[in-house]
Amino acid sequence: MFSKETYMTRRERLRKDVGNGIIIIAGNNEAPCNYTDNTYWFRQDSTFLYFFGIQRDGLVGVLDCDNGRDYLFGNDIDIEDIVWTGPLPSVKELGESVGVDNSGDMKALQTLCTKTIGEHRKIHYLPPYRADIQRQMSQLLGLKYDAVKRYASLDLIKACVKQRSIKSAEEIAEIERAIATAYNMHVGAMKMAMPGRYEYELAGFMEGEAWKGNGPLSFPIIMTIHGETLHNHNHNNRLEIGRMLVMDAGCETPMNYCSDITRTVPVGGHFDERQKTIYEIVLAAQMETIRISRPGITYQEVHTEVSKILAEGYKGLGILKGNTDDIVAAGAHSLLMPHGLGHMMGLDVHDMENYGQIYVGYDDETRPSQQFGLGSLRCGRRLEEGFVITDEPGCYFIPALIDKWNAEGLHRDFINYAELEKWKDFGGVRIEDDILITKEGCRVLGKAIPKSVKEIEETMGN
Ligand code: GLY
Ligand code: MN
Ligand code: MN
Repeated sequence: MFSKETYMTRRERLRKDVGNGIIIIAGNNEAPCNYTDNTYWFRQDSTFLYFFGIQRDGLVGVLDCDNGRDYLFGNDIDIEDIVWTGPLPSVKELGESVGVDNSGDMKALQTLCTKTIGEHRKIHYLPPYRADIQRQMSQLLGLKYDAVKRYASLDLIKACVKQRSIKSAEEIAEIERAIATAYNMHVGAMKMAMPGRYEYELAGFMEGEAWKGNGPLSFPIIMTIHGETLHNHNHNNRLEIGRMLVMDAGCETPMNYCSDITRTVPVGGHFDERQKTIYEIVLAAQMETIRISRPGITYQEVHTEVSKILAEGYKGLGILKGNTDDIVAAGAHSLLMPHGLGHMMGLDVHDMENYGQIYVGYDDETRPSQQFGLGSLRCGRRLEEGFVITDEPGCYFIPALIDKWNAEGLHRDFINYAELEKWKDFGGVRIEDDILITKEGCRVLGKAIPKSVKEIEETMGN
């Protein structure tokens, strides 16, 4: 946990930014896996973590913008619980540890909500992403279950985004801790990427390294020789020479700050000519992001500039043809990269995505594109000092998509489908780092993880 002053300052700013009424921030409950007492790993809600920092399930925080008071609600455990869980601090003690002077049980929370409704004061809450929390809000506020999301507070969403988008020095230090563990995950797995091994062995190693860093994974590992499937969670393939292995994995610190790193390596440790060619194109694109990202530029613009590097590379291979700007303006290159360049990262691997991407990655000035590929960009807005975003271009030869576009005759002026046929068995390449926008430009966070052809071959050769 950060100091109690950090949480007090954050809550004070949130109360001021929202302005009036009360703010309800629900913590998460335990989530049953296959029966009630066999639960998934407990993951606290990130907004609750940001403003209250407490890891216990079943808590709800309230901020009263009108009288400046903060509250923590939850039911204390009894002796039957203590037998199973051991002694735990009371809700009152938990609240005091983060500067909250007022506490109560869940009945007291209901009383407060009912009173606030009676006073016709505004109740701000975030759109729930878990069914149990949606039900809890429905009961607390007397709303129909299906109406709960509709009445979520845009003022609260905007105030949370404003505050959480700019990472403080202590948050950046946490993210770099998560990347230090990701370094061990990725470098260790690279060395294991030899023919005869199975993807699940490397995925298992990575998860072990994450826990050795004392935290869970930040999302289910992508470890696949079929990297053309963007989020491939199947780990059953045997590694064979000639395949590129996409490893997209990160972890969380004990405070739940994330890392999200992708490396792609040739099985066996040596790039053949085809592999090297595609890899170098993607790497040039990934480095272009680092070269041009700075406060004031939009990430949509960065995505477009990076797309030009990719398109130039594919033109060199004879896969694309024509004027590079025209190719990118038409979106023809997106056949080989149907996703956006990156997303915000912090307490969530896709930071704040539960608020609604439009409020996090876009603003009044920058709207999402309708174009295939660019339309999937999760963060397109103007960059500011303190943003942490991912830089993750890729190249994917997706046979079903190539066949579909070819059959429909899409972008025939720009795409040489006959040449593309030769690449349909290639798979995919993605390279991903987490970058911090600084005063002048940006900085790749954490200890450098082998990325150039030479560095990867040396790492795997050893
Ligand atoms: N790990 C999914 C992503 O890179 O966004
Ligand atoms: Mn990733
Ligand atoms: Mn990512």
